[in-house]
Amino acid sequence: MQTADIQRRWLAYFGDRGHTVVPSASLVSDDPSLLFTVAGMVPFIPYLTGVVPAPYDRATSVQKCIRTNDIEEVGKTPRHGTFFQMNGNFSFGDYFKEGAISYAWELLTSSEADGGLGFQEKDLWVTVYEEDEEARALWKKIAGLPDERIQNLGKDSNYWSTGQPGPAGPCSEIFFDRGPAYGADGGPATDDDRYVEIWNLVFMQYAIENVRSKIDFDIIGELPRKNIDTGMGMERVAFLKQGVDNMYEIDQVRPVLDRAAELAGRRYGADHEDDVRMRVIADHVRSSLMLMTDGVAPSNEGRGYILRRLLRRSIRAMRLLGVDAPSFHELFTASRDAMAPAYSDVLEQWDRTSRLALAEEETFLRTLASGTTILDTAVARTKSSGAASLPGATAFQLHDTFGFPIDLTLEMAEEAGLSVDRVAFDELMTEQRTRAKADAKSKKGRIADLAAYSPFRAQGETVFTGYEELTTPSTVLGILVDGVSAPVISTGDIAEVILAETSLYPESGGQSADAGSIVGNGFDLEVLDVQRPVKGLISHTVQVRSGEVAAGDAATAVVDPVARHAAAQAHSATHLVHAALRQTLGQDAHQSGSFNKAGYMRLDFSWSQALSPDTRSEIEEVANAAVRDNLEVVTRVMPIDEAKAAGAMALFGEKYGDTVRMVDIGGPWSRELCAGTHVGRSAEVGVVSLVSEASVGSSNRRVEALVGLDAFRELAAERAIVQTLTSSLKTPREQLPQRIEELVQSLRAAEKKIQAFESSQLSGRVPALAGTAGRAGSVVLVAEDLGELGSADDLRRLAQGVRERLGSEPSVVALAARIGEKPAVVVATSEAARGVGARAGALAKLAAGVLGGGGGGKDDLAQGGGTDAGRIGDALTAIRAELEG
Ligand code: ALA
Repeated sequence: MQTADIQRRWLAYFGDRGHTVVPSASLVSDDPSLLFTVAGMVPFIPYLTGVVPAPYDRATSVQKCIRTNDIEEVGKTPRHGTFFQMNGNFSFGDYFKEGAISYAWELLTSSEADGGLGFQEKDLWVTVYEEDEEARALWKKIAGLPDERIQNLGKDSNYWSTGQPGPAGPCSEIFFDRGPAYGADGGPATDDDRYVEIWNLVFMQYAIENVRSKIDFDIIGELPRKNIDTGMGMERVAFLKQGVDNMYEIDQVRPVLDRAAELAGRRYGADHEDDVRMRVIADHVRSSLMLMTDGVAPSNEGRGYILRRLLRRSIRAMRLLGVDAPSFHELFTASRDAMAPAYSDVLEQWDRTSRLALAEEETFLRTLASGTTILDTAVARTKSSGAASLPGATAFQLHDTFGFPIDLTLEMAEEAGLSVDRVAFDELMTEQRTRAKADAKSKKGRIADLAAYSPFRAQGETVFTGYEELTTPSTVLGILVDGVSAPVISTGDIAEVILAETSLYPESGGQSADAGSIVGNGFDLEVLDVQRPVKGLISHTVQVRSGEVAAGDAATAVVDPVARHAAAQAHSATHLVHAALRQTLGQDAHQSGSFNKAGYMRLDFSWSQALSPDTRSEIEEVANAAVRDNLEVVTRVMPIDEAKAAGAMALFGEKYGDTVRMVDIGGPWSRELCAGTHVGRSAEVGVVSLVSEASVGSSNRRVEALVGLDAFRELAAERAIVQTLTSSLKTPREQLPQRIEELVQSLRAAEKKIQAFESSQLSGRVPALAGTAGRAGSVVLVAEDLGELGSADDLRRLAQGVRERLGSEPSVVALAARIGEKPAVVVATSEAARGVGARAGALAKLAAGVLGGGGGGKDDLAQGGGTDAGRIGDALTAIRAELEG
């Protein structure tokens, strides 16, 4: 039974039983407390908690999921995948335990001919939460299971939550017995690979907080309704139904494994270690492909880091299979072909995902090379110090800065005959994790906070009127102060105000929130921010300027028209620049993010090279020509399919509903899905002035522009600078660049002349100094105090000059001077002097000691300094005495 067939049977079964079929949400979770969609229930969390009223009582989905907490287990067990698909059926206050158990049992045990999954009853076991007698009784009644095939387990296995504050509940799991060939008897409680968990039924009825561990959390109360959340692991069912040993060998994964084996020239099944590596590659390549398809790009933090880790682990595993050459092209193509039948966007995004994968591979292979150099240096240093193990800090640096997996460091160190200080390494890793946790902690408690909005959201969506009007009379539905409902607020208070309708635009789609006010009988509130904290609900953060306002009061939302118009100019300018980019660079330049506010816009797009000045000008020109052409801006609301058919550009990684808003500027010239506010015609944008273009992350560039009056002011300021220059340099505008270039050149020439003059001044002193030479022991000695001098360089140059002038005689030149406040001494010796034992380094050290400092250098030239300029004479005398002695 192919994976696609299991999916079809699943959706048909639950669809036929009154469940709304909901398409898979993105792997990038909407929920701020979760990096990824980790379970089928994630997109339904607001319905399970009751924060947002569920639009249906029952739903079913086949959800893409990512979990990387067990990444080390991948390939070693039959069932740990970082990417997997969870088939779920959900009840929001409709059926509960009995319904969930009946559906699961029927679908599993009905024959394939009847649309079921065709499992034998005798092969199935279940577990229930230890206190859940009700579930045990239901399993006996519905499935006729004997008591010994129903096992009680504790919180650790049979109480489920996402690991974050939110909905939770006891659960009941269904297992398939693979038979004695795979392990000992004794049922799932023996926790063996023999009993494979295939389906988890969660009886979601509690809200939890303060999650300290899987078994340690606070139950803060019951959810408004009793819900069902189930998850059947599609990969697990697939491997059991396909008669293979593990999830890496199913139809959607195996082709990548085979390709890896082929590239390595090794046979799968021949060697256990190699098999694990091939499975790791098959799993990680698929996970990476699916993550990138959902808009994640490799980076050093958050989601991007996890993706990077998956990609790098794959490269590492290929190296361990003996493949050092790039292999991603082949591996990703195999994964694409295996996944595209189920996920058409894998093909739509292929250009982008394959580019990202190849770029990451290239970089990591280079990283491996430079990390290897660091490692080699550290290995050499460790060996020469006589130690047997590499410092933990080096291993950590390789891990943290170069993305070297620790096992790579271990292995490479071992090849060099060293171990690694694992204890120190682990300590550094723990410290880093603690830091990351402290960071994540600040985000926790958000689900509980969101519960504060549920009474308002229960009254329906906030009506946004801001496309048609700027002033909208409405009613205050509620007020929150620090997340807690407050009956009334007064002058100076800061609070969140929720209205039934509002014309104030909430920050979204890259456009910042409207400025404005909320006014009513005797009160005036300044709007500081407008957000959409839960889907469908708009909340205004305000400060009370004057008066008092209470829930239930009539209130009018008023948008600041000047700020709104400037914001609309900036947002329309963003579309113009996007269209201009694509027209200039080609359709490969995809927008990857944007932000705009009154007077300013920035746009990030996928592109790997810097834009040349000419290209920048061209983009600016195209955008401004569209402004001049006074194109009409038309917005229409329509079904998403229609908009896509019309060629509207959808933003990657953005979620759209069934109906969308399409914004045209000049018909199809610029056509985007967008919820923002725009000008009526392009000429209202005024001017677009690109002010910067830079790289943001790999293969991503950012352009920034000023818009409208702000653009004009920027240009005017530049004009003022030019005017100042033309008058101070007395040069017409067109000749300024040339004139400045000339000035710079002549300044350089003048500096050179000054330098030459100074050194000729200096060399002028050489003959007189040489004239002071007198015998000291077996050498000729010049020992002079030069008074004040500009630099130690000058002192050195003079000493060398005098030595040269004294020719082949055995000569020692010792010159001292005050440089700034400090005494300095330089000693130079000729070859003949060195021949009779005069050493510049030792003499300089001697003199410096007298000066109260230190010094040294080579035998031929050395210098020293000190603190006591009053002893320069003594220092020179010491040198003379040494030579005479
Ligand atoms: N949400 C449950 C799980 O992921 C079904 O196991």
